[in-house]
Amino acid sequence: MTGGIAAYKACELTRLLVKEGHEVRVVMTDAATRFIAPLTFQALSGRLVHTAWLDATAEAGMGHIELARWADAVVVAPASADFMAKLAHGLADDLLSTLCLATSAPLYLAPAMNRLMWQHPATQANGAVLQSRGAMLLGPAEGEQACGETGAGRMLEPAEIIALLHGKGLLYGVRVTLTAGPTREPIDPVRVLSNRSSGRMGFALAAAAREAGAEVRLITGPVALPTPSGVVRSDVETAEQMHKAVLEALPHTDIFIAAAAVADYRPAQAASHKIKKHAAALSLELERTPDILAAVATASPRPFCVGFAAETEDLLSNARTKLKNKRLDMIAANRVDQGLGIEQPDNALEVLWSGGQRSLQRAPKERLARELIVLIGERYFQTRDTRTS
Ligand code: C5P
Repeated sequence: MTGGIAAYKACELTRLLVKEGHEVRVVMTDAATRFIAPLTFQALSGRLVHTAWLDATAEAGMGHIELARWADAVVVAPASADFMAKLAHGLADDLLSTLCLATSAPLYLAPAMNRLMWQHPATQANGAVLQSRGAMLLGPAEGEQACGETGAGRMLEPAEIIALLHGKGLLYGVRVTLTAGPTREPIDPVRVLSNRSSGRMGFALAAAAREAGAEVRLITGPVALPTPSGVVRSDVETAEQMHKAVLEALPHTDIFIAAAAVADYRPAQAASHKIKKHAAALSLELERTPDILAAVATASPRPFCVGFAAETEDLLSNARTKLKNKRLDMIAANRVDQGLGIEQPDNALEVLWSGGQRSLQRAPKERLARELIVLIGERYFQTRDTRTS
């Protein structure tokens, strides 16, 4: 550990690693000990904490060499900008930097710093040098920072760090259910009410969630898209069928992403025979369909719920209202009147959650989907860790 406010997350990281059966030896820089007392880590790891470079209690007085040989992996969490700079230049003036230089074990760094410090060309260059020498950077995440700013620089959540240490994706073992595409509501045996949704955003999200290691179930309306590999797909036609399929999947769902453009209304009565064109005008009586997302968000227990909001005006305020009214954990809003969104290959999203917001710039839906899955994963672990701690 180096010195940084994210040091408190290192407590949970130590606890989870020990719980998984790993032996953890904690090395703290002098600055780290000002944030959390070594005694806390001694209690959590069940071992003495190492702080001194020249350690009289270590065999041969060379604590750094013993530790460097002992470790199967070295994880620096949090890794400060100063520490990254030091490592990039091979400086070794304390136990932790000396240990990092002396070890042949894989080295992981979980950066944690103010967003401007992270963005600074010096830090970026140091990160690139360290990566080119084989160090693995875990994060940082985006979001609110202790300094009151918002941006990239937060340390990843402990559970995320562990998933990455296992060489597994961010959502490894997490069960994700998605809806995608339009629904079709029958008017008569040959005609339907539907919309222009291509299903591409939902399918791209399913592929990205799968890439991130999740177990993915995709419930889709009629679309002309191939099933992403490794994804379990159910095809449905109407809002009612989609609702039923989602409720059946609910006991196996940790994260629910509603990317479908579900018809809000359906013909109150579908004609049993094809309607003939005798009348000069025709009225259809429509009734509301079930709001699938709202139903999932009010279920108990409920998964982490992500909704979409396609809007033509007042994008942010409408999305924020929807986030609140539907009791969602996150909402991705897009304007649908600027050649973006529905039916288009590109999209741009404003992602909102309680206390946070992030703009994902215009990009092909596949790339946006990967960025959105990372945001969803980060928020999912944050809320889950808060609920269980
Ligand atoms: O209220 P609105 O239809 O704009 O909300 C959009 C969000 O709600 C989307 O995530 C959509 O998939 C979901 N939704 C739903 N069931 C409906 C209508 C919308 O799950 N009947």
